[in-house]
Amino acid sequence: MVIFKYIEDVKYYLENKREEGFRIAFIPTMGALHNGHISLINEAKQAKPAGYNSAIAIPAKKLTVASIFVNPTQFNDKEDFEKYPVSGENDIQMLAEAGCDVLFMPQVTEIYPGGPDNIPTFEFGYLETVLEGAQRPGHFKGVGQVVARLLDIVQPDELYLGQKDYQQCMVLKDLIRQLGKEDTINLHISSTQREPDGLAMSSRNRRLTEPQRAIAALIYQCLVSIQAKQSTDKFELVQKECNDLLEEKGFSPEYISLADANNLELLTDFDSNRKMIVLIAAKLGNVRLIDNMLLN
Ligand code: PAJ
Repeated sequence: MVIFKYIEDVKYYLENKREEGFRIAFIPTMGALHNGHISLINEAKQAKPAGYNSAIAIPAKKLTVASIFVNPTQFNDKEDFEKYPVSGENDIQMLAEAGCDVLFMPQVTEIYPGGPDNIPTFEFGYLETVLEGAQRPGHFKGVGQVVARLLDIVQPDELYLGQKDYQQCMVLKDLIRQLGKEDTINLHISSTQREPDGLAMSSRNRRLTEPQRAIAALIYQCLVSIQAKQSTDKFELVQKECNDLLEEKGFSPEYISLADANNLELLTDFDSNRKMIVLIAAKLGNVRLIDNMLLN
């Protein structure tokens, strides 16, 4: 694996690779890597690159490029940013073992020379006003800003994102549209990787205390129970059940919401004519956890 810190160097390297016929699959991360992240690398490596032609049996060559950058502009909570886990050496080892080809690890001044105000931001309308957008003002502005910057540097053919951050996937899909890159960037959304008890893997999980970790999978159990009750119960009822249960165990739920999976329009009750998703955000102590599940 080749590691770059500077934009100029990674751009030059990737330009040469592109000229050699490589197609580029990009996996942006904030580090503190776990098997959820690694599953994106694995999928990127396994998927046949766009342009692959089995008839002539000459597969297009593919390069997997990961980035690690804890982006300050997407943290609305100062403490969350300051306590965001950093595990540089371990991250590098995990990526190398997964067979990642290139790692880009820039400093803040490299991504935001002259400060974040000098780098363009984007509007995501409704998506910035609901769920994560409502709970974390400015978060998606920061995500859009940094991903636009990274896409411009890496110029990928494929972008790999995790369903764990469903709303982020929708925001970035819209970003790609706004950048006029829908035809050049193939977006892949990978399923959520979980711990054996169902807890969605997350870098923030390592901030949980042992007793908190022991109950953290309750969020997943709520999703499963909501999914199981979608054809028998009213959403309002199961939402309240889950809310009460989470509170009883010491969580502070921020939302337990049902939405149309295509546009995140909030729904008051199950509607089997729509593709639905349930999304939960809850704090356990000062660790904020999110998860979601597609219902049908
Ligand atoms: P980060 O939280 O590090 O996540 C990087 C990628 O890994 C995201 O696409 C995320 O959805 C995916 N991911 C996280 N947990 C996962 C899991 N349990 N299973 C599968 N995929 C998972 O998301 C970000 O970083 C940042 O917002 C970023 C896009 C890098 C912009 O700064």
